[in-house]
Amino acid sequence: MDRFHILGPTPLVGRVRASGAKNAALPALAASLLTDEPVTLHRVPRVRDLRTMCRLLDYLGVGSEEREAPAPGLPDFADPELPADPEGSQSTQSPESSRSTKSTEGSKSGASPEAVAEAVLVLRRSRPSSGADAPYELVKTMRASVLVLGPLLARYGFARVSLPGGCAIGVRPIDQHLKGLAALGADVRLAGGYVETRASRLTGARFRFDLPTVTGTENLLLAACLARGTTVLENCAREPEVADLARLLNAMGARISGAGGDTVVVDGVDGLGGAVHRVIPDRIEGGTYLIGAAITGGDVLLEQANAADLAPLLDKLAEVGVEIEVSPAGIRARVRAGDGSLRARDVATAPHPGFPTDLQAQYMALMTRAAGTSTIRETVFENRFQHVSELARMGARVHVDGRSARVDGPTELTGAAVMATDLRASACLVLAGVAAAGTTVVDRIYHLDRGYEGMELKLQGLGAHVARVTESMAT
Ligand code: UD1
Repeated sequence: MDRFHILGPTPLVGRVRASGAKNAALPALAASLLTDEPVTLHRVPRVRDLRTMCRLLDYLGVGSEEREAPAPGLPDFADPELPADPEGSQSTQSPESSRSTKSTEGSKSGASPEAVAEAVLVLRRSRPSSGADAPYELVKTMRASVLVLGPLLARYGFARVSLPGGCAIGVRPIDQHLKGLAALGADVRLAGGYVETRASRLTGARFRFDLPTVTGTENLLLAACLARGTTVLENCAREPEVADLARLLNAMGARISGAGGDTVVVDGVDGLGGAVHRVIPDRIEGGTYLIGAAITGGDVLLEQANAADLAPLLDKLAEVGVEIEVSPAGIRARVRAGDGSLRARDVATAPHPGFPTDLQAQYMALMTRAAGTSTIRETVFENRFQHVSELARMGARVHVDGRSARVDGPTELTGAAVMATDLRASACLVLAGVAAAGTTVVDRIYHLDRGYEGMELKLQGLGAHVARVTESMAT
């Protein structure tokens, strides 16, 4: 089991680039089940959740092959298969998708000190479907495996997927996914820990989610694009990852409009083809490095970032006293020497465009260093304050009351041995470790590896003293 050894405090200074968004790449991989033609995905992050999804797809008859990535730093238009992005990476409109005519060949490779090389993944049916069955052994480690339910059902008229089960950050039911599929005419049953769905062909319908769910919206989009007739989905999740999936599906031949908004309309088609698509940058990973700049009193330029997707965080950081500058080069976050201390500011998580729950833990680490008292309210998930007891070991003063946490600052954090409990909690502890005086050892880094590509390399590129230590080296 790997751990991070961190020696702090160090201000994070320099340029960093976010990898592709894990939460956009996962549904994009699931979309490959909808076609027999190759789907080529650029900017796929090399993280464990993606490898888990590849294993599941392989079981379902879709093989994945990693190709060399374009050199980091090359402009997007250097890739002949991708449409040029005339507005640069700041654009929220860039389609970054195209219908594929051939597979990617001969792309360039390279490395830069501040970036992890991008991966290109080609997904292609390797054998006829042996069934539409996703077993517990493959699904249990990752809740997002449920994203195969919609495409399998739409494509084969039957899907049997293990229920993802409980999760460290709450109960996280999938009732909305199932209600939505039932609205499209599926027969849905639960038996022996599995959900079984059947429909000779799904039929378009109007469906309103009881609450916005990200993977629920994505599952319904994946299913509805092959349904007969028109589907209207209301109260959809508005996360940028939903819009990114729709861009890919449209490039494959689907007819989806309104994705990224509250109401999405899907005109069903009879079949989908292959496509080439570039996954959006990971706003949560990028946001983590911006918070890293703030908590360490540093100066970080996040390259190739989409400022609109990060607006809720950028607004909050500005309130806290972090100088934010958005330019064609990226988003710069810095704490100017002599600006005085950071100011405590309350936050409440909410579905997009609210403050992302996936940045709540990192923001809490920041608030331990800010002057004053802040209240952090978690409205999306229950039980998402597991980082609090670990932060307390580093000197933080945090009091949890139900779904609210009160943080009293500022605290001079001190290094300690701490344990990562989930993906974002791990990131919070790593940032706190870089800001803390002395040595911090963050154990159970495998949580971090689910969603952060090369975090120690990126932090090293920003000047942090972080080392990955594997079990055999540690003992
Ligand atoms: C996705 C993200 C995750 C992020 C979360 C919220 C992926 C792979 N994961 O998770 O990183 O933290 O969005 O931004 O994209 N709910 C129900 N019934 C359902 C579905 C959800 O009650 O059928 C509830 C959940 O318990 C939760 C809320 O809705 O309270 C939002 O969950 P949801 O948006 O579905 O999260 P995920 O898609 O699992």
